[in-house]
Amino acid sequence: MDERDSVGVSIRSISKRYGSTEALKDITLNIEPGEFMSLLGPSGSGKTTLLGALGGFVMPSSGSVWVGDQDMTYMPPHKRNIGIVFQSYALFPHMSVGENVAFPLRARRLPKSTWPERVKQALAMVELDGYQDRGVSQLSGGQRQRVALARAIVFEPRLILMDEPLSALDKQLRETMQIELRRLHRKLGATVVYVTHDQREALTMSDRVAILKDGELVQIGAPETLHNNPKDSFVASFIGDSTLLPVTRIDEHTVQLGTHTLRSAKPIAPHAELLLAIQTEKLLIDDGLHEPGINRLPCRVVEAVYQGDSLRLFLELEDGTSISMRQPSHHTALQKIPPLGERLSVVLHPEDTIIVPRAGCAPPATNVA
Ligand SMILES: Nc1ncnc2c1ncn2[C@@H]1O[C@H](COP(=O)(O)OP(=O)(O)O)[C@@H](O)[C@H]1O
Ligand SMILES: [Mg+2]
Repeated sequence: MDERDSVGVSIRSISKRYGSTEALKDITLNIEPGEFMSLLGPSGSGKTTLLGALGGFVMPSSGSVWVGDQDMTYMPPHKRNIGIVFQSYALFPHMSVGENVAFPLRARRLPKSTWPERVKQALAMVELDGYQDRGVSQLSGGQRQRVALARAIVFEPRLILMDEPLSALDKQLRETMQIELRRLHRKLGATVVYVTHDQREALTMSDRVAILKDGELVQIGAPETLHNNPKDSFVASFIGDSTLLPVTRIDEHTVQLGTHTLRSAKPIAPHAELLLAIQTEKLLIDDGLHEPGINRLPCRVVEAVYQGDSLRLFLELEDGTSISMRQPSHHTALQKIPPLGERLSVVLHPEDTIIVPRAGCAPPATNVA
């Protein structure tokens, strides 16, 4: 398949009610042809329901779903030409690997003479060449998930939907499969909509990520946009590893944190409740070499924890507020592990000084200076 065959998806004002539960609230989302889009949100935020509306398993209460130039809202699942991978692999245990992968070809009544070649190609795509005749029960979890993937791509769908496909795998295999899925996506060129509750997984894999909360679309953007320009405190706390501290706005580029003023490179809109989102990896220990304009916070070391790949410091500001920082554990950093109780300063670059409004808190009606 090449990229010209992939299609865009347009979700237009989709709402879904289950009794009194509003699982989806007026969601509008456009996905580009060939894009890898993740739906990210906590459990119960509506991810599976939205994916179901794309796959045809969920009838929206209102709104429509378009794939390419076709309105698919009421089309039954099997007519949609969409590949689907679920968390539970849903393989047929009594069938061989090859029979499992061929199943969609049988269901679609594609000519039987084409099956062997298609199955072979699909298995090669997921690096299971030569596994056709194995029983499914003889496979490891990672191999089963690959068979499920091969089955989803064997009929060359233009759109592939995945619902937490890696969550049953252990951490190491999950990380390997994330990179493999990225590669597979590049090779196939198909449009992918991928559901996960794991922010790191979403950031690792996606061209763009759509963040859902309580059935609403909170923010959509490229991983670096969500990480560096979170729309509110919900996104800031959900993406990355950060401490949120209440601040007061002084002017467009300055806030007050306790007795300290901090500069932010990005303009700060007036809002009733503002928070500073300090990402653990953005803080640095002040070695006296940073430029004068940088934000400095005096603090005391409460705990220093060696975590293998990083060194984590738990710090207390003068007023007792806790913050934490993390730095890579290369030898030069390890040599400088400060003793407990030590007073030092941490620095935060204005570019990394992220100020967000509190989620669900309306901006003031009148203009505050
Ligand atoms: N078939 C259903 N009947 C009733 N409520 C449902 C059904 N499916 C989902 N819900 C509710 O809709 C909301 C969103 O669910 P879901 O889409 O499964 O969330 P997620 O996949 O993000 O965990 C939840 O409150 C859930 O309880
Ligand atoms: Mg779900």
